[in-house]
Amino acid sequence: MNLSEMHVVVTGGAGRVGKTLRKAMSAEFRKVTVLDLVAETDLAENEVASVCDIVDLAALTGALEGADALIHLAGYPIDQAIEDILRVNCQGTWNLYEAARQQGIGRVVQASSNHATGFYRRDQRVSPDMPMRPDGSYGLSKCFGELVAGLYWDKAGIRTLSLRIGNAMDRPSHRRGLVTWISPRDLAQQVRIGLTHPDIDATVIYGVSACEDGWWDNSVATALGYVPQDRIEDFATPDAWTSPLETEVAETFQGGMFCSVNHDGVIRGRADLLSKSNSDHD
Ligand SMILES: NC(=O)c1ccc[n+]([C@@H]2O[C@H](COP(=O)([O-])OP(=O)(O)OC[C@H]3O[C@@H](n4cnc5c(N)ncnc54)[C@H](O)[C@@H]3O)[C@@H](O)[C@H]2O)c1
Repeated sequence: MNLSEMHVVVTGGAGRVGKTLRKAMSAEFRKVTVLDLVAETDLAENEVASVCDIVDLAALTGALEGADALIHLAGYPIDQAIEDILRVNCQGTWNLYEAARQQGIGRVVQASSNHATGFYRRDQRVSPDMPMRPDGSYGLSKCFGELVAGLYWDKAGIRTLSLRIGNAMDRPSHRRGLVTWISPRDLAQQVRIGLTHPDIDATVIYGVSACEDGWWDNSVATALGYVPQDRIEDFATPDAWTSPLETEVAETFQGGMFCSVNHDGVIRGRADLLSKSNSDHD
């Protein structure tokens, strides 16, 4: 189906990434439903707001009626208490797929995160076929989301492109963003691929713009036709180049500060990890 024929539901569409993405590409769709806990008021002509909690399966199933494809962004975008992450990010994502199955929707693009592999070191080049390596409760929920996508491909034939987004802001504004940033139009390009490419099953790529010496091998994205339009260094703010170094752990692992926040929420170094090779703590 062409984008111009599609009715797309964007869960979490009133959030930061949702607003950015809708600005970049809503006009390409026949209709966009902005599904969120809050009623979006800043709507384009072909957009409608739908207030819905993705934790409520019956409500979500009703809200997806008539949709052709889903862009799933709803949930907590950083670490939270595990109970909250399980309820919203995990149960909510499960509900999304179950509702999609019930409504006969065959395409999903979901926001995964680089924090699914945050505990790889920065001197490693990571590709989606390497083992997941989450760096907290949030990263763990993104691993779960990718696995749910796999399950619903195998059992229900729903095709998903999971985007392990790095940092989706207007410009890279901190040091880590110099390796992780994705521009609005590159993100839109990846979403376009996810909604239309015939070879997608339960496919995972990294959501990042062009970056020399980056951390991620995005050859899967390249094979799907992704050609980033923007180079990170061309967009970096002065803050990005001059921002202070973080903890030693944060500077060692790809997940940055997510890797140095312990279960009690306190930021500390894990000296034991720093002295070991990756294989030592696999
Ligand atoms: N911003 C980034 O750089 C980045 C990086 C990697 C991944 N992501 C992922 O992209 C997605 C969007 O991130 P964001 O930065 O826009 O976060 P955000 O917090 O700005 O937006 C999330 C939206 O989801 C909605 N939401 C939360 N719980 C919900 C529920 N139970 N039912 C319905 N809606 C609910 C919120 O109201 C909010 O509008 C998230 O899945 C996040 O994990 C973002």
